[in-house]
Amino acid sequence: MEKVEILQLPKILDERGNLSFLESNAHVPFEIKRTFWIYDVPGGEIRGGHAFKEQKEFIIVLSGSLDVIVFDGEKEQKFSLNRSYYGLYVPSGIWRHMENFATNTLALVISSTSYDENDYIRDKDEYLKMKENES
Ligand code: TYD
Repeated sequence: MEKVEILQLPKILDERGNLSFLESNAHVPFEIKRTFWIYDVPGGEIRGGHAFKEQKEFIIVLSGSLDVIVFDGEKEQKFSLNRSYYGLYVPSGIWRHMENFATNTLALVISSTSYDENDYIRDKDEYLKMKENES
């Protein structure tokens, strides 16, 4: 199984201000189909408690900070993101949610698929059953 991991993006340091970038199939390990972003999250809120059958994603916190909690059916891990030149690669089949958003946090999510509600697994029991059947 592919692993969840933090990937560092290029960082062009400049006295005029720094610049980072990413390209499809290069800095993110998939072809980019869609991006969306999460913002104006009220304190204490949790977003994204679900898994995807196919979708792979890359989560960058452009501003502020948050924690991404990932669960692969066996173990849970927490990744704290607070730099715009790091992203968290989340392969398909991982249950994940985001929490502990600082005020005004802006999170960019880069996805390998177009939006498809049928790709979501929103029920934790269904997810656990799917993982049991895989092993
Ligand atoms: P969802 O992924 O369920 O967010 P969360 O898990 O954080 O609650 O998305 C929330 C709503 O937005 C859902 O009704 C579907 C819609 N949506 C789109 O229409 N297109 C998209 O690309 C995304 C990410 C969500």
